Amino acid sequence: MTEELFELELVGGSIEKAYRQMRPEVEAMPWGTLDPREYPEELIRAARKSWTGAAFQEHRTGAACAATLQSLIEARAPLDLIALASRFPLDEMVHVELCSRIAMEFGGGAELTYEPDAMVAKIGHGEEPLMKAAHQVVAFFCVGEALSIPLLHGTWKACTHPLTRAVLKRIVTDEADHGTFGWAFLDWVLPHLEPDDFEALGATADLAIAGVLANWEAIRRRPPASDAHVHDLGWMQTDAYLELAERSLQRQVMRPLSDRGIPTRPLEAAV
Ligand SMILES: [Fe+2]
Ligand SMILES: [Fe+2]
Repeated sequence: MTEELFELELVGGSIEKAYRQMRPEVEAMPWGTLDPREYPEELIRAARKSWTGAAFQEHRTGAACAATLQSLIEARAPLDLIALASRFPLDEMVHVELCSRIAMEFGGGAELTYEPDAMVAKIGHGEEPLMKAAHQVVAFFCVGEALSIPLLHGTWKACTHPLTRAVLKRIVTDEADHGTFGWAFLDWVLPHLEPDDFEALGATADLAIAGVLANWEAIRRRPPASDAHVHDLGWMQTDAYLELAERSLQRQVMRPLSDRGIPTRPLEAAV
């Protein structure tokens, strides 16, 4: 599979207008208020890279939400659960736009290539629709989304610039439902599962957690910066972020999985 450049566009006109009407809060944000000249060049480079990376992660999450949604529909999961999950891909597209526009404010997106075919991890492949949905929900929602909420919340709280703050607040607000969705689905599906399924779902959670730990490595390598700059750029200081991340992984992911009988490997074993 060939790699493609992660570039985005809008068609504009009536299509953009309809989209703007669905999400008027995007245009209402204080765009144009970030001045890259106020920050050291090295940090601007890092900020462009990190916000482009964030836009791409939101894009991938959109694809993961859509793939899960398809499985939920195929499995005839409860209608209200499906209806709630139908909003998520749109939320993620909004987040893509927000993150990429911040990168533009810092001077433009950084070059990022990706493999379209590998955008969504092939979770639950070969399983019946309901189990496929369960594996996808565990990986994408009970690990991915449940963990991102406290981290986004912490970053938003630490954030000092009105624009990055407004963007993070919007994302945090939308993500609240994404994070609780996984647990709502699991609570509904648990009575339908066989004993072996719990082990299998635990193995899927382990895989997703290993992916999260690899991301933390990239954050560890970020250039050090002063508190004021970091908080304007929409980051937390690395140590504080990683500390919150590990605590959140234990409390918001591993414990609620274990409470539902889904076993995960201890973190030391996953590293
Ligand atoms: Fe998102
Ligand atoms: Fe999300």
